[in-house]
Amino acid sequence: MELFFNKYLNAVKRTDTIHYTGSVSAVKGLMIESRGPRSMIGEICNIRIGKNKTVMAEVIGLEGHIVKLMAYDSTEGIEVGCEVVATGHVLQVPVGRKLIGRVIDATGRPYDGKGNLNTSEYYPALASPPNPMTRLPVDRRIVTGVRCIDSLLSCGKGQRLGIFAGSGVGKSTLLSMIARNTNADINVIGLIGERGREVMDFINRDLGEEGMKRSVVVVATSDTTSINRLRAAYTTTAIAEYFRDQGMDVMLMMDNMTRFAHAQREIGLSTGEAPAQRGYPPSVFDMIPKLLERTGTNDKGSITAFYNVLVDGDDLDEPITDKVRGTLDGHIMLSRALAQAKHYPAVDVLKSISRLARRVSGKMTLKAATKVARLVSIYEENREMIMAGVYQSGSSPDVDEAIAKHNAIEEFLMQEEYEHCPIEDTFRKLGALAEIEIPEEEFDESPQSIRKSVAEQVRNRKKAEVAESNSQAALTDLASISKSLS
Ligand SMILES: Nc1ncnc2c1ncn2[C@@H]1O[C@H](COP(=O)(O)OP(=O)(O)OP(=O)(O)O)[C@@H](O)[C@H]1O
Ligand SMILES: [Mg+2]
Repeated sequence: MELFFNKYLNAVKRTDTIHYTGSVSAVKGLMIESRGPRSMIGEICNIRIGKNKTVMAEVIGLEGHIVKLMAYDSTEGIEVGCEVVATGHVLQVPVGRKLIGRVIDATGRPYDGKGNLNTSEYYPALASPPNPMTRLPVDRRIVTGVRCIDSLLSCGKGQRLGIFAGSGVGKSTLLSMIARNTNADINVIGLIGERGREVMDFINRDLGEEGMKRSVVVVATSDTTSINRLRAAYTTTAIAEYFRDQGMDVMLMMDNMTRFAHAQREIGLSTGEAPAQRGYPPSVFDMIPKLLERTGTNDKGSITAFYNVLVDGDDLDEPITDKVRGTLDGHIMLSRALAQAKHYPAVDVLKSISRLARRVSGKMTLKAATKVARLVSIYEENREMIMAGVYQSGSSPDVDEAIAKHNAIEEFLMQEEYEHCPIEDTFRKLGALAEIEIPEEEFDESPQSIRKSVAEQVRNRKKAEVAESNSQAALTDLASISKSLS
């Protein structure tokens, strides 16, 4: 019953009885200028074309009485004098369990032709990150189902990582492997600036029916307007925030952040911002951390996030790569050399790092992972000598071991796209390679009891705070009742 009324209550809440209007004064490339309406940055306006058509647009700049807008759809038909109506709110995203299994666009409209979403709740696309003081600690391991990550780069529920590579090295394939195999409760996937064919391939082939059953996909293909591509990232994040607020462990995936940065570059430059680093205006570098900080844990659940970054010209110092890498809790570097050698997933384990691996791994698991990584490193350091046949067997026990185990380690780190790797298998194989026995209790998602107790302490402290504030409120009520009686 309550749910039934909520639908109407929300509709009433979202209705503004005073309409601020303006009229289009110019259309300059991507940007529409209008005299009025009274509005704020980020506000959604509807541009009326004739009697039946409206185009949704967002306020991206204000200059005196001139409002600068960017349209979500094509600007076709917009002419000087068209009415512009302010809605009074920023982009709102439909949320709810009914989104699961659906593909939507940046504005929350269905993209899959499966009809209405039938949701009654909305979240704002633009929101602030959770308060760092109330964030739950990251102390539970997440299973990605990708053997090289689960073993050598363990990640926690609520951790945020970047997957960095040049074009065609396997970023999207790696994301789809994680989406199919992770033990997160739900996947929220943002496909930003991808080609239409790639989107369909990802949904139908990579994710498949099984993956789609526990996923929500937000799509803004490369042919959509820049505001569309930009906001798709916010919409994806808002949907993940909704599921996190339901206490779920969410897996958010963004493919990719470079297209997000390109979209903001187009918007920034068209509003008159000066280009700073490699043509990117300063707003790009301001927006990236603001978006990425929204994921992670809050006081109810977690959003583990994987952000794909297309590294321009394989240059790891290019500004977007640098900014994203510095903001996140870890990076997975894919190597073109490995991909060319058909070593998939092409993860360069020596250049990759999971900053929270220590917090979510048991003692023996860590020991085994360090040993295997060390063997990889020793082999790489001596590769040329080994290949040239210069290395004399017996000169160094470490190098001997690295050579002896090289093929087995390679095999362990490689994984077919549709190969299923349960975490128990991964840990047993890791232990065997390192010749270290990993006890079964370390297969648990929170192997370190000490970490667990930290999380419990935080949860207990929060419970106590809520109880305290409730009793304070009750005392205040009692005081006011007794005052009014006397
Ligand atoms: N695990 C894998 N097993 C086998 N082949 C793979 C694997 N991962 C990637 N590939 C191969 O690499 C190709 C490119 O992969 P993918 O599209 O994931 O790269 P990408 O980095 O996302 O590319 P882009 O930069 O164009 O988005 C795939 O078509 C596939 O042939
Ligand atoms: Mg890709």
